[in-house]
Amino acid sequence: MVKIAPSMLSADFARLQEEIKSIELNGADLLHIDIMDGHFVPNLTFGAPVIKALRKHTVLPFDVHLMVTNPEDYVKTFADIGTEYFTFHAEATPHMHRLVQEIKANGMKAGISLNPSTPVAMLEDIAADLDMILIMSVNPGFGGQSFIPHSIRKVKKAKALLAYYENTKAVVEVDGGVNLETAPLVREAGADILVAGSAVFGANDRSEMIRSLRGYL
Ligand code: DX5
Ligand code: ZN
Repeated sequence: MVKIAPSMLSADFARLQEEIKSIELNGADLLHIDIMDGHFVPNLTFGAPVIKALRKHTVLPFDVHLMVTNPEDYVKTFADIGTEYFTFHAEATPHMHRLVQEIKANGMKAGISLNPSTPVAMLEDIAADLDMILIMSVNPGFGGQSFIPHSIRKVKKAKALLAYYENTKAVVEVDGGVNLETAPLVREAGADILVAGSAVFGANDRSEMIRSLRGYL
């Protein structure tokens, strides 16, 4: 069954601890954490100290999505905090292989994210080493944007690329504009994890929303 990773970006920042408890109790599988630096994307969010403070308040695995120009600088910090997936952008470094090895050597799972205009083929020679391919279905930087339909084809391509490696446990995650309308398309394309910010945090009934996004009510 597909997993749901609510994005903290759409939470009430004045009540983060409660908000995270709420999605944990309402059935979320992971907590998606968007780190933005104001350089790679035109927005700033929160940094490691905030994430560290939240670690002791939830059992949800941390799914950290770094939208920063220098992801190499944060490997140790997020490993120390206790991070399940450390995902950086392919567009942010010429040294994807080195960084992936470093992430794994620090005990985390390694993910690479692709902007809407970056082809899946860019991951051809690193796919075997990955734990996650993150397909951005909006341009990174903000929550609440509309899903880019072409992303569906990219999810299928990412699944096909991973299927080539029989022993891989790597998953495909989709991030941006996932809601009740687009989730079925993304699931059908083979996605393993759906990120949903505004859909989950904006729902009156978060439990029902999470189950609906999974396709099970
Ligand atoms: C966008 C972030 C997303 C964002 C998704 O740059 O990576 O995780 O929070 O928000 P929604 O689900 O509202 O599109
Ligand atoms: Zn994200």
